[in-house]
Amino acid sequence: MEVNDPKIIVALDYANAADAINMVEQLDPKLCRVKVGKELFTRTGPSFVEQLVKRDFQVFLDLKFHDIPNTVAGACAAAADLGVWMVNVHASGGRRMMEVARERLEKYSSRPYLIAVTILTSLSQREIEEVGYSGETAKNVLALAELTHESGLDGVVCSPLEAGLVRNEIADDFLLITPGVRPRTAKKDDQTRVMTPADALQAGSNYLVIGRPITAAVEPLEALREIQAEIDAVGR
Ligand code: C5P
Repeated sequence: MEVNDPKIIVALDYANAADAINMVEQLDPKLCRVKVGKELFTRTGPSFVEQLVKRDFQVFLDLKFHDIPNTVAGACAAAADLGVWMVNVHASGGRRMMEVARERLEKYSSRPYLIAVTILTSLSQREIEEVGYSGETAKNVLALAELTHESGLDGVVCSPLEAGLVRNEIADDFLLITPGVRPRTAKKDDQTRVMTPADALQAGSNYLVIGRPITAAVEPLEALREIQAEIDAVGR
């Protein structure tokens, strides 16, 4: 089995390199990409990301940079030097931060996708208001997605339930990356607002971040293949 432009990004939510490598050895870079987040990166460092790249995995470095423009641009350049496929920032870092980061990546002949997080889906309505946003969350998410697009970035991370809204308002080539995806037969774990892979792709999502339904499966590669089959069945 081999797919062109795999849609599945497997979240490597591990606290050490050995567990993450053990999982990666059971996966197939022709079928999926992998995501390295803050915990694994802080424990294992850039050399671990390089190991993944050497194993032919395309890596989404999910470090959600948020700082002054020059610092974020430098961090994005460091990610590009590691050879990652995708890197992200917080849209609330502002237009100039995003533009400067994007400009820095222009210098690479083959640069990573640069995407933004809008509003963390873990925040409750009250917490969102506490940090200064007012009005409907969906409206704020859309405004930040529009700012991301205007700043020249490639896309945003969003809930699959927001994907349709963003897709209707922003150009088709703007990437939507969605976690909160559960195959029909899987447990929800601690995710509450979930969609199936096929439904998320139909709502306009381009890539699906999936962790436990694959990483906690007895046969991760088999679980990955089954989800891919679910995607193939809807012709994506
Ligand atoms: O195991 P599961 O499929 O729930 O993992 C989802 C991954 O996506 C985790 O790495 C989680 O941190 C990330 N994520 C999420 N919800 C968001 C943003 C990121 O689940 N809103």
